[in-house]
Amino acid sequence: MNPLNELLQSRLARGPVSASEVMALGLYHPDHGYYRRAEGPWGFAGKDYYTALDLGPLLGQTLALRLEAAWERLGRPARFTALEPGAGRGWLGRDLLNAVSGPFAEALVYVHRDDNPAAKEAAEAALMPFLAANRARFVAETEPLEPFTGAIFSNELFDALPAQPWRWDGEGWTREVLTAAGPVWQSADPGEAGVWFASQTDGLEPRDGSVWCEALPGLVRELATPLEAGLFLAVDYGESADRLLAKGADLRRFKAHGVDGKWHEDLGEADLTADVDFTRLATLLEGEGLSDLSHVELSKWIRTHAPLDQWGAQWMALPASERMARTENLLQLTLPGMMGSRFRVLEGWKHFSQG
Ligand SMILES: C[S@@+](CC[C@H](N)C(=O)[O-])C[C@H]1O[C@@H](n2cnc3c(N)ncnc32)[C@H](O)[C@@H]1O
Repeated sequence: MNPLNELLQSRLARGPVSASEVMALGLYHPDHGYYRRAEGPWGFAGKDYYTALDLGPLLGQTLALRLEAAWERLGRPARFTALEPGAGRGWLGRDLLNAVSGPFAEALVYVHRDDNPAAKEAAEAALMPFLAANRARFVAETEPLEPFTGAIFSNELFDALPAQPWRWDGEGWTREVLTAAGPVWQSADPGEAGVWFASQTDGLEPRDGSVWCEALPGLVRELATPLEAGLFLAVDYGESADRLLAKGADLRRFKAHGVDGKWHEDLGEADLTADVDFTRLATLLEGEGLSDLSHVELSKWIRTHAPLDQWGAQWMALPASERMARTENLLQLTLPGMMGSRFRVLEGWKHFSQG
């Protein structure tokens, strides 16, 4: 039997387990969690899911332009640290480092932060030349972050944090829990989550509901505090708070390139995700001193910031197969209904403090 299912069965014998606890167990159990297992396959290699990075280098290339613009805005500092929490295989860092050149490339140091052991091994290979040239390094999640100027960016970090689904049943709140007989919705006091949800809508309808990530404020604080000045950028699955409530956001399981709501099955062998509440993420960042916060669909962000004319001209000189791959990468990130319309990009700015 799967060791996590075994563990879960003994927990269930004592009573219901909240969906967020099940998600935490499935993803982050120190030995058997999906993101803590010493060996893959997981993600794309495990045929569970793919991210924008599996489609090609265009996300990293566009990110490189945003970071260079941030470096300019900061007055071209000699050292620009780009921290990536949830960096996984390090592919976004690799694509970023491959895309930069000139004085910005000399200033840029990429920092990978993710304790996922299988992914870190892949990142060591992906980042090898940059690690050797001291242009990239690793920090453990437990290591305190030194103050730095530069940027924090992530791809699909926040949707991988354990979250609890809540539903309004017309009279009160219910939360999803797992019992020995399967998942059920139970009446419960949502506390702070209920206050937040109610503040994000003109009126709750039965079946409205959203997901609440308990760890979000702590992680936002942990990341934003050492950033002395610069850009915060997050690419993730999700919506604004009102839209999540109207859709009744839920947990999803990704397995073998399929997606379903069976978040309690195959624990440790399937990816679990929750939509990111971008309104809450922006509000928390504002509370940590960031400003100019906005979030847009990834497709719009690419269309706004990628040098499409330049790329078009450069790609004409590439071999046909390479040109096709780039074109497909661009279409996946920009066409309606494809990956670019399912993800959003949040940007915020931290100014040097006046004190
Ligand atoms: C969905 S994966 C995304 C990986 C990579 N960014 C990509 O796009 O392929 C989420 C990653 O976030 C990591 N993670 C979760 N919480 C974290 C935290 N507090 N700090 C750093 N990484 C974290 C997990 O270990 C996992 O590797």
